[in-house]
Amino acid sequence: MAPASNQVGGHVAVLAFPFSTHAAPLLNIVCRLAAATPNTLFSFFNTKQSNSSILASNTSSILRNSNVRVCEVADGVPEGYVFVGKPQEDIELFMKAAPDNFRRCLEASEAETGRKVSCLVTDAFFWFGAHMADDLGGLPWVPFWTAGPASLSAHVHTDLIRNTTSMGGHDGNETVTVIAGMSKVRPQDLPEGIIFGKLDSLFSRMLHQMGLMLPLATAVFINSFEELDPVITNDLKSKFKRYLNVGPFDLLESPAPAATTTLQTGDVVVGDGCLSWLDKQKAASVVYVSFGSVTRPSPEELMALAEALEASRVPFLWSLRNNLKTPKLDEFISKAELNGMVVPWVPQPQVLAHGSVGAFVTHCGWNSVLESVAGGVPMICRPFFGDQKLNARMVEDEWKIGLKLEGGVFTKNGMLKSLDILLSQKKGNIMRDKINTFKQLAQQAVEPKGSSTRNFESLLEVISTAN
Ligand SMILES: *[C@@H]1O[C@H](CO)[C@@H](O)[C@H](O)[C@H]1NC(C)=O
Ligand SMILES: *[C@@H]1O[C@H](CO)[C@@H](O)[C@H](O)[C@H]1NC(C)=O
Ligand SMILES: *[C@@H]1O[C@H](CO)[C@@H](O)[C@H](O)[C@H]1NC(C)=O
Ligand SMILES: *[C@@H]1O[C@H](CO)[C@@H](O)[C@H](O)[C@H]1NC(C)=O
Repeated sequence: MAPASNQVGGHVAVLAFPFSTHAAPLLNIVCRLAAATPNTLFSFFNTKQSNSSILASNTSSILRNSNVRVCEVADGVPEGYVFVGKPQEDIELFMKAAPDNFRRCLEASEAETGRKVSCLVTDAFFWFGAHMADDLGGLPWVPFWTAGPASLSAHVHTDLIRNTTSMGGHDGNETVTVIAGMSKVRPQDLPEGIIFGKLDSLFSRMLHQMGLMLPLATAVFINSFEELDPVITNDLKSKFKRYLNVGPFDLLESPAPAATTTLQTGDVVVGDGCLSWLDKQKAASVVYVSFGSVTRPSPEELMALAEALEASRVPFLWSLRNNLKTPKLDEFISKAELNGMVVPWVPQPQVLAHGSVGAFVTHCGWNSVLESVAGGVPMICRPFFGDQKLNARMVEDEWKIGLKLEGGVFTKNGMLKSLDILLSQKKGNIMRDKINTFKQLAQQAVEPKGSSTRNFESLLEVISTAN
């Protein structure tokens, strides 16, 4: 029975991880949930800095949902603190203070709204959400994993991987066969902190702890679709109380900023310009290049890539952040005869959905991989860190919808070869057919009776029946 419109619903507290591409996709799905359950109130907790970057462009789409409140949580940086420049220093400060800071915010939001928090939706990194939900009287804890299913599985199975896998076979062909769906994965593809890297860093311990706590969650949800990887999907379904694939977000009408975008004033115009340029190109002929918002390829690699693009004469669209430009690259870009466009920002989902884009050169961050699948564009992978190598392995060897660069880094010849395979050879066409099959499955998943639609309804039920 539909609730009466004046009935007061639950109050969902949403805890965002304010670094990298985490908060934007969480806000995206929260807005969709909010639109579907207008009586439920959502308090979205984020730091001031992250909030202003994800909402800078246009707040109207958020404000349209009058049941979403954006609330500020402190960034955990003590007053007068001087950064010493350690890697992840800001993340460590934030994480150390996070449980207390979020608790205080929750209490404040209950006082302000007069509505008790009824459900806790958090970034999956916040494993302490399990304890918080218990302390609040056994509320549902509903974590969101912002990366892909393979890396989620690697974190859930960290102990098993540690017990059974060594880096001994480093140069060999050993694979992580103990984990369902990972028979193509080599130990060195795994994210740092599982069997190599700093296993006792705050970040590695956080991910390990997360893997242990997620099976306690009421439901775990992810921006993917079940049909992409049925083996991992089934394995995680057996591990979690509920495992809900509710994506790809980009195929749904988006009520909030797209997952990968950080819009800045003026960039919208640039985005429009590149779409009309794409309109003039031949079908599946353009190579699109982007490394996301964090990854930093070296100037040498960027130059090798630039030289390959120029030598190949393939039309290209390169989304190049201003902080990656060098004088030599500027010189390259300013050549009048270039068969391409270099811009600081593009509306990536629309670019990848454009019929003239035939290959995507990517760092293999999860959102980029999924957007490429949704657009049916095979990938040339240059992964850097975190889950990117694992994603690249899945793309090349499991899903067979792209290839990794020869030698792992950009060289002029390696890049020319990869472009040739993807755009001119039969192998490339086979990959294109394969990724188009996934694209169709993704489209079916978000149709009214599709798997992601049904999972979204389950998610809605989990968060809105908790009173
Ligand atoms: C904000 O979004 C609304 C509705 O989508 C649009 O009409 C308006 O022009 C946008 N404003 C800016 C500054 O982009
Ligand atoms: C979040 O950012 C938007 C846009 O900059 C701003 O209007 C809003 O007041 C901010 N909210 C909080 C709680 O920081
Ligand atoms: C890993 O090995 C330890 C020590 O032998 C054992 O206690 C633990 O249960 C094992 N865990 C898994 C998941 O294999
Ligand atoms: C690994 O390579 C060795 C020697 O080349 C081969 O005998 C073995 O079957 C391979 N193992 C796998 C899992 O491919």
